[in-house]
Amino acid sequence: NQVSFDYSLTNGFISAEEIKMMESVAENAKSQLLNKTGAGNDFLGWIDLPVNYDKEEFEAIKKAAAKIQNDSEVLVVIGIGGSYLGARAAIEFLRHSFYNSVSKEIRKTPEIYYVGNNISSTYISHLLEVIGDRDFSINMISKSGTTTEPAIAFRVFKKLLIEKYGKEEAAKRIYATTDKAKGALKNLATEEGYESFVVPDDVGGRFSVLTAVGLLPIAVSGADIDKLMKGAAAMRERCINNSFAENDSVKYAAVRNILLRKGKSIEVLANYEPALHFVNEWWKQLFGESEGKDQKGIFPAAVDLTTDLHSMGQFIQDGQRTMFETVMSLEKSVCEIILEEEEVDLDGLNYLAGKSVDFINKSAMKGTLLAHTDGHVPNLLVNVPTQDEFSLGQLFYFFEFACGVSGYILGVNPFDQPGVESYKKNMFALLGKPGFEAQREELLKRL
Ligand code: PA5
Repeated sequence: NQVSFDYSLTNGFISAEEIKMMESVAENAKSQLLNKTGAGNDFLGWIDLPVNYDKEEFEAIKKAAAKIQNDSEVLVVIGIGGSYLGARAAIEFLRHSFYNSVSKEIRKTPEIYYVGNNISSTYISHLLEVIGDRDFSINMISKSGTTTEPAIAFRVFKKLLIEKYGKEEAAKRIYATTDKAKGALKNLATEEGYESFVVPDDVGGRFSVLTAVGLLPIAVSGADIDKLMKGAAAMRERCINNSFAENDSVKYAAVRNILLRKGKSIEVLANYEPALHFVNEWWKQLFGESEGKDQKGIFPAAVDLTTDLHSMGQFIQDGQRTMFETVMSLEKSVCEIILEEEEVDLDGLNYLAGKSVDFINKSAMKGTLLAHTDGHVPNLLVNVPTQDEFSLGQLFYFFEFACGVSGYILGVNPFDQPGVESYKKNMFALLGKPGFEAQREELLKRL
């Protein structure tokens, strides 16, 4: 039941010598990561998280999740970037495809909505309508505690909560996931008595899915966070201890860098299961924010297939040849539908009678792998054995470790994000935030 990596389809693109040469570069990058000698080495707490996490807090997370399941019809998860995507990726992968709309009898756990990941008044207003006068709780997630998007949403939903339950009761329905000591959210949590969970100092946002950031919403959804951690721990073992030939994560990092050096500067992550859509989104942030700096990096793009074969498929097959593709293949689908024979074969599908929809999906995938390879798009495969917590834990860790190694191969600090600040400064200046007066004048002249 192992998540695994297969680059055999890159035969015509990459030679054994190239792999050999990159092996030592990748091993060196891995040593930098494990010996904590590389850039950003104060943000490596994620490496040991699957085995070295705060067990007491882990139990408190489960307790809080049970309380929310008990007293709330809806959980509002407020956060953006690394404080949002991991939880959503996990819940959408592990739970029902129509989680919020399927009946309570099937779902069993509260509806979960995400807000604070944009600045749309329409989105916020519509979510207020969805909640209506139902019982709800809030998980406000912000490591810094000062990010504008979630802070705005928190104001709105906190007000609704206080109007509904009064200040004291409302405070018991707010769960703050933030820094252990500093930041506006931590101060507010201390002041108002919210139950708080910690984002460790040495774990950056996009590497934080296995902390309370991801674990509390995931546990509320009814998914098994113990199994998620076990999956991550199993992959950590392999990443840390295996030599290059047996180390799928390090090999993935190596192969993508070989391809980059050959002019393949775009990586398209593809899935064939809608449940993986937000894993794509999480992955885009992980690699985009970690590698895209100092005018370097592989641009991470993503497609949902076969859906996007009817839109982006044309470009991948036939457009500018600057990309490679990484396909996440879910080996075993959760549900099975067998196509039946019809008496009159009007739609011409009787040749598929007796075949499962998943078999057809896999055939589409295999056909596409070969077609894209023939179209000079090197295809890499990440096999995901099952749609469950153990596989997902492995997958999260597989990509995180590869990202750290790959960043060091590229020669960047994979654990900072200086570029994110530029838009914030402009936004604050335009909004008239105190301290930004000079920039404001400059910007207004340019608009
Ligand atoms: O990965 C990161 O560091 C970012 O994407 C952050 O997670 C994001 O900006 C949200 O930050 P915060 O949790 O401080 O609100």
